[in-house]
Amino acid sequence: MLYDNFFKKELDVLKSEGRYRVFADLERHADRPPIATWHSPDGNKPVVVWCSNDYMGMSHHPEVIQAATQAASNYGVGSGGTRNISGTAHLHVELERTIANLHEKEAGLVFTSGYVANEATLCTLAHGLPDCVAFCDEKIHASMIHGIRHSRVPRHIFSHNNLDELRQQLAKYDKKQPKLIAFVSVYSMEGDFAPIEEICDLAEEYNALTYLDEVHAVGIYGKDGAGLANSLSQQHRIDVIQGNFAKAYGVVGGYITGSKPLIDYVRSFASGFIFTTSLPPMVANAAIASIKILQEADDLRHQLWENVNLLKKLLATTQVNYHDTPSHIVPIVVGDAKTCKDFTDALLHDFGIYVQPINYPTVSRGQERLRLTVTPFHTKEMIHDMVNALSSLWGKFFMKMAG
Ligand SMILES: Cc1ncc(COP(=O)(O)O)c(C=O)c1O
Repeated sequence: MLYDNFFKKELDVLKSEGRYRVFADLERHADRPPIATWHSPDGNKPVVVWCSNDYMGMSHHPEVIQAATQAASNYGVGSGGTRNISGTAHLHVELERTIANLHEKEAGLVFTSGYVANEATLCTLAHGLPDCVAFCDEKIHASMIHGIRHSRVPRHIFSHNNLDELRQQLAKYDKKQPKLIAFVSVYSMEGDFAPIEEICDLAEEYNALTYLDEVHAVGIYGKDGAGLANSLSQQHRIDVIQGNFAKAYGVVGGYITGSKPLIDYVRSFASGFIFTTSLPPMVANAAIASIKILQEADDLRHQLWENVNLLKKLLATTQVNYHDTPSHIVPIVVGDAKTCKDFTDALLHDFGIYVQPINYPTVSRGQERLRLTVTPFHTKEMIHDMVNALSSLWGKFFMKMAG
């Protein structure tokens, strides 16, 4: 077999469908968020970033940077091993205490990413519980799908947020049979919320464990930024709250929190936890600093919501097909991969605005979109410029398509 020919042919298919991913070569600037320098083929250009998951700008917070640099100079840049073999640092222990306290759970466990936390935990729980059956919202993250798939347990996928379907699926099984419901509080691509309370009601009725991914909610929603379940007074009803340090907390790494026996079980059996080098202590220290800052950052959250509301208010005066979500995430559905790419290219080249196009398989075909994330650091002028750019391009593109 001519291996490279195979790879090229597969990539050509992606290119012909407009789904080939081109990474923007960016240099973000800690002192000028949300401005970045784009290393474009024609030289360096300043751009305004409109699609970062660094929702609260914590990646460049001076105290978070200081926590990372101080821990790096005290302890070095690497952890030295897996948690089992000399890779447990005191800062990991402190970070786990911090997240357990944040979610008012008995214990926490830190992973190298949110992806690994989901994959490893769901696989371990579903595989380990005898005769377990998994129930998943159709829009859960790829890491959750992979974890459940790898567990090889029977799984039911219910339509997005469809409680009737979930109930029908749960009702097929004996109450005593172990069940696991996996869902997300703030759906990243839709920007909508899960009906957390109602899912907890069903879980109680049918005796199921609940696993909630709060990756897009922690730091922003709830008291002290503890997430959406917290804001709805439901967090005590969730068995596993999963989150990460990479979005609102602006660092990297993932975690789960729950009861002591559950966390100890995952710690003891999850391959994705056991057999990989732990997070560098400097990352753990940055995450601790970031969580603590966001626990007391109502002013920053206020600024975020002011910007989100202004963005939505201005979009409402245009023809742009945006979704008026309840969250800080604003999707704009374009509905075709090639147009989506051309649209974001035009934003970048003509207006100096960077938004990555979102295509299949991240969203289903026909649902290709832009996903806007405004931060507390976008100025009012930037928001007005963005809406003017979107509005002018929307007219051009959709007139062009109609013609
Ligand atoms: C809902 C959800 N869960 C988990 C993850 C993975 O988190 P991480 O980027 O920390 O691996 C993501 C990442 O985009 C996500 O959107």
